Amino acid sequence: MAVLFRPFFPVDKSHWAPVLAETLADLDFRVFPDVGNPEDIRYYITWNLYKGDRIAWPNLKAVLSMRAGSDWYIGHPEAPVNASFVRMIDPGLTCSMREYVAAYVLRLHRELGSIERNFATMGNWNVLVPKLASERSVGFMGIGHLGMACADALKPFGFQLRGWSRSPKNLTGIETFSGDNDLDAFLAGTEILVCLLPLTPGTQDILDRQTLCRLPKGAALVNVARGKHLVENDLVALLDSGHLSHAVLDVFREEPLPDGHPFRTHPKITATPHIAAVTMPHTGSKKLRETIDLLERGGTPEGLLHPDRDY
Ligand SMILES: NC(=O)c1ccc[n+]([C@@H]2O[C@H](COP(=O)([O-])OP(=O)(O)OC[C@H]3O[C@@H](n4cnc5c(N)ncnc54)[C@H](OP(=O)(O)O)[C@@H]3O)[C@@H](O)[C@H]2O)c1
Repeated sequence: MAVLFRPFFPVDKSHWAPVLAETLADLDFRVFPDVGNPEDIRYYITWNLYKGDRIAWPNLKAVLSMRAGSDWYIGHPEAPVNASFVRMIDPGLTCSMREYVAAYVLRLHRELGSIERNFATMGNWNVLVPKLASERSVGFMGIGHLGMACADALKPFGFQLRGWSRSPKNLTGIETFSGDNDLDAFLAGTEILVCLLPLTPGTQDILDRQTLCRLPKGAALVNVARGKHLVENDLVALLDSGHLSHAVLDVFREEPLPDGHPFRTHPKITATPHIAAVTMPHTGSKKLRETIDLLERGGTPEGLLHPDRDY
C-alpha cells in the first residue's frame, strides 16, 4: 500500500514532505511525480486535482484533501469515481481560524479600526463609552466544526452568541436558528455576522443585498468562508449607504484579489489574503495518519464527504 503526496506550494517540499515522511514512516510514502507502480497507490494526499491528471490508479481508496472545504472537489472533472474523499479537519487549522475570528470580532466590537484612524489622522483623544460584550450579538452563519470553535473562543467575553445552521441544534450558551424559516430572526438580532458556511449551490451568493439588509443598521460582516458566498457590489452599496459599518474579508470571488479591485482601498473594508486558517504540517500530518488508519480499519473518518447529504 502506497501513499502519494502531491506538493503544490513551495513550502510543501520543505515543510510538509519531511513531516509526512516521518508520520507515515512505516508506509510506502511517495512524493509526486515519483508515482512508481500506479497499482500501489491507495491514498492520494493533495491540495487540488490538476487538469490532465489521470488519477485512474486502480486501487485508490481515498483522496485526502489538505483543505478544509469540499467545494473545489465536487463535480471536478478529474475526480476519481470509485474513491472516497476526506476533507481536512486539522486542529492546527481550527486553532488559527479561532484566533482570526476572535481577533476581528473583538476589533469590530471595540471599533478599534475607526479609533486608530481618528487618532492617527486627527489626533482624536475623545473618550468613548464602549458597549459591553454582553450587549453585543455575534451570529455565526454555519455553526459546524469551525463555527463552533470560534463561538467557543468568544464565550469567555460574554457576547450574545447565535448560530444558524441547516438542521436544528441545541448548543450550550448559543442561541440557535435553522433553515430558511429562522433566517430572518437570526439576521435581525445579529450585530456582527461571521460567515462560516461551506460553499454549496444552496449557499452561493447568500450574502447578497436581501440577506445583508436584514441585519440591523450598523452591523458588521466577517466572511471567512468562501468568496462566492458574497455578492460584492451589494456589500459595497450597503457599506456606502451606512447600513453596514464594516466588513472583514479573507476570501474573494477572484483570488488573488486583482490590483485595482475596490475592496483593496475601500475605507470600510479590511481585506486579508485568504490566511484566516492554515493547515499546519505537524497537526495536519497526524490527522492524515489517523484518517488512513481509520479507513484501513473500515471506519468513517471525520470529514468524509457524503455528496448526497453535504451538497
Ligand atoms: N478562510 C479560510 O482560510 C478557511 C479555512 C478553512 C475553512 N474555510 C471555510 O469554512 C467552511 C466551514 O468549515 P467547517 O469545517 O466549519 O464546515 P462544517 O463543519 O461542515 O459546518 C458547516 C456548517 O454550515 C451549515 N450549513 C451548511 N449548508 C447550510 C445551508 N444551506 N443553510 C444553513 N446552514 C448550512 C451546517 O449546518 P448542519 O450542521 O445543519 O449541516 C454547519 O453548521 C469551509 O467549508 C470552508 O469553505 C475557510
